[in-house]
Amino acid sequence: MKIIRSHLGIKLFLSYFVVIVVGMAVIGIITKITTPRAFARHLLFMEQQLGTGQGHGQGQGLGAGGMMSDFYQNFQQSFNESLLISVAAASLVALLVSFIFSKNILGPVSVMTSASRRIAEGHYDERVELRGNDELNQLAGSFNQMAEQLEQVESMRRQLIGDVAHELRTPLTAIKGTAEALMDGVLPASTETYQQIHSEAGRLSRLVDDLQELSRVESRSTQLDIHPVDSASLIQTVTKRLKYQFDEKRVKLTLSLPRDPIHVLADEGRILQVLTNLIGNALQYTPEHGTVTISIERDKNEALISVADTGDGIPPEHLARIFDRFYRVDKSRSRARGGSGIGLTIAKHLVESHGGRIWARSAGKEKGSVFIFTLPLAK
Ligand SMILES: Nc1ncnc2c1ncn2[C@@H]1O[C@H](COP(=O)(O)OP(=O)(O)OP(=O)(O)O)[C@@H](O)[C@H]1O
Ligand SMILES: [Mg+2]
Repeated sequence: MKIIRSHLGIKLFLSYFVVIVVGMAVIGIITKITTPRAFARHLLFMEQQLGTGQGHGQGQGLGAGGMMSDFYQNFQQSFNESLLISVAAASLVALLVSFIFSKNILGPVSVMTSASRRIAEGHYDERVELRGNDELNQLAGSFNQMAEQLEQVESMRRQLIGDVAHELRTPLTAIKGTAEALMDGVLPASTETYQQIHSEAGRLSRLVDDLQELSRVESRSTQLDIHPVDSASLIQTVTKRLKYQFDEKRVKLTLSLPRDPIHVLADEGRILQVLTNLIGNALQYTPEHGTVTISIERDKNEALISVADTGDGIPPEHLARIFDRFYRVDKSRSRARGGSGIGLTIAKHLVESHGGRIWARSAGKEKGSVFIFTLPLAK
């Protein structure tokens, strides 16, 4: 019983077998019941024909009746014999056919079983060949889709580990190098040297914080607390916080706010984070005497919030990739300024988790850039 339960092939085969046995039994029983009556009816008909056609007396009729009953017995025996042979032959052929059928049906299942085992062993490129469009092939199609997604996740995981290792290596190498130079007496034990180590350690800890935040937003583990918020007040909060840094770098900050308040559906803290990233970037990538303009517009059922600057700009070939994690247009320059290339990735996840979109525009290098994101309007 255990073997039957654990093998779909045996179950399928047995179910065919039961159908065959029941079919045969029905044929046997029905012929057993109907044959004598049918035969008797035909016999009577023949007797009548014999009686009337030949015009003989009663005795001869009885003689023909005795012959007919012998004939019936012989007929029944030969009928039983041929029925037995045909049932046996039909069962044999049916068994063979059902065996071939169950094997055919189960073929894709066993292919999928071995493919899933290979995937479990780490061979994510494994796929199942599709032949047709029946339910099993549809299952195979979904299986292939799942395998593809697993392959993508795995390659992203590998890439992430590689990127993180690479990002950690730079400040660590700097800290190690400075410490060694200190120990060897190449660098003086001055405040400046210690500040250098301190700033690299600060960069490391910022990177770790960013990574933690990235993993949180990517896994959507933090629940959003969404409610109607006045978009202008969000912008004023961020600009108030960053005002000092703008003044210090001598970059002008202008706001273009709507006359009537535009209420959006947002988690205040999270959208402040997005704005801080975008305005922080604008400040970071805009040289002295440049201008950063923040504006809000209403467009159908959403609000468009944009952060425009007159700074470095982004060459068109980089525009599509700046939201990828660790992507920086000018790696060495951006890293030197403390950037790890995660800010925009976090911003994108946050905006999308609000049901919005985010994109960037730039006329090219040194031509400034505009970052725009949308948020649903509060009804
Ligand atoms: N306003 C901007 N002007 C020009 N380039 C920009 C602007 N904003 C972003 N970029 C480019 O996009 C890249 C990615 O930005 P992102 O904010 O993700 O990373 P980052 O600023 O380098 O580091 P961090 O993770 O600390 O924010 C930047 O390295 C920069 O090259
Ligand atoms: Mg940034």
